[in-house]
Amino acid sequence: MANTESWGSRVGLILAMAGNAVGLGNFLRFPVQAIQNGGGAFIIPYLVCFLLMGIPLLWVEWSMGRFGGRKGNHSTPFILHEMDPKRALWKYIGVFGIFTNIAVAAYYCYLESWTLSYLWHSIAGTFNGQTADQVAGFFGNYVDINTSTTGIPFEPIVFWIICLLLNTWILAKGLSGGVEKVAKVGMPLLILFGIFLAIMAVTLKSGEHGAVNDGTVGLNFLWTPDYSSIWTAKVWLAAAGQIFFTLSVGMGSIQCYASYVKKKDDIALNAMSAGWMNEFVEVVLGASIIIPISIGYLGIDRVVEMTQSGGLGLGFKTLPYLFTQWGPTLAMIAGVCWFGLLFFAGITSSLAMGTPVMGFLKDEFGWKHKNAAWFFGLIILVLGLPTVLYFNEGVFDEYDYWAGTVGLVVFALFEIILFAWVFGMDKGWKEITAGADIKVPTIFRFIIKYVTPLFIGGVFVASLPGILEKITSTGLPWQVHAARVLLLLMFA
Ligand code: ALA
Repeated sequence: MANTESWGSRVGLILAMAGNAVGLGNFLRFPVQAIQNGGGAFIIPYLVCFLLMGIPLLWVEWSMGRFGGRKGNHSTPFILHEMDPKRALWKYIGVFGIFTNIAVAAYYCYLESWTLSYLWHSIAGTFNGQTADQVAGFFGNYVDINTSTTGIPFEPIVFWIICLLLNTWILAKGLSGGVEKVAKVGMPLLILFGIFLAIMAVTLKSGEHGAVNDGTVGLNFLWTPDYSSIWTAKVWLAAAGQIFFTLSVGMGSIQCYASYVKKKDDIALNAMSAGWMNEFVEVVLGASIIIPISIGYLGIDRVVEMTQSGGLGLGFKTLPYLFTQWGPTLAMIAGVCWFGLLFFAGITSSLAMGTPVMGFLKDEFGWKHKNAAWFFGLIILVLGLPTVLYFNEGVFDEYDYWAGTVGLVVFALFEIILFAWVFGMDKGWKEITAGADIKVPTIFRFIIKYVTPLFIGGVFVASLPGILEKITSTGLPWQVHAARVLLLLMFA
């Protein structure tokens, strides 16, 4: 069956692409990375990475997608091969762009399902009157399948299945009938919820509702440039990793979405609109909620200490408790806004992760759209189960590391080499600028050819010691080894 889908409108496409990028990473991962890496010391490397890796990769991936789509290809194995038809190798490298999405979706949907459950508990007022320890303990119980005592039997599994069904159902409705509609409703709501919470956070006053600092203390921590640790490799790796994750580059989902763009349509301005919208949501909204509220109540030192042991704590263990300090009504509104925005951020990204494998099945085997959507749901159910059952054993983190961190860098390195050096910059530049509604600065021709590949190569080489340390680390639970074998088998 021909793959005849297309986007309904330009606004819909941009919102869907922005939805792909704007995700849980913007609100949960970014603030924690920023805090862990010294606040003001993080922002400069982050912005440099956006400029020299993020923007070039956005243009490269959008144009690869439109190029492949012109020839009827909607997933990276075929798109990459189309760019260098003489070498079958690219087809196999392109498989990264399918499996990375599947492996990321496998743990991402679990995290997304927590937001649904916490949305419910915010409405039900579960956290009102609880102590900080009790709210934190609630999360501990939630993810511990064996002793889950949160009020609903097998609660994490119930919400996870609901979340998977929702994703599958929307995907089955198609690009313009499902994905685009969700983005058109979800993105504006997310921004609205985010603005409300950011105003609450920034206007927090020391002494009111138990806060010890003004909301601006957290903002100053992030926005006061700190050059002391700017040359630390760890900070640069964290910044680069965040840029990859937040923009969803090196994944394969942007190429897939862009492959449904019409052949004469602009991609240069579209890519920038979606990319900059992501940055607005991340550095303006994402930075103005968790950081000012938690530092407002707990102080910089305590918050820095809390993020050392992992990132998810602040969003799920701490924020719901701090919201209750505002009284039951505001706590409910803030909880609905926070977990509602996280849910919309999450689902618009996980839907994007579903489309490459569906495009592949439809192009290669002529599968019907609906069957491809259900197949995706089924794989996520099977591959995500270990992250649900063995969350406490570290399986979730393992997926995040190999698929959501290493996988993105490796694939991005391959595709930039293919684009700039094999396909060639003459053709590449034509692809980027064809039909463009903006003038793409010519300096990016140089950046894409030399700077971005070197930069990504440098990030990969600098990550190698960490990767080796991971591989050789001993004393890990058997579940982690099993997860590694599973991930390895997927990519093999
Ligand atoms: N780009 C998505 C996020 O930030 C994956 O969560």
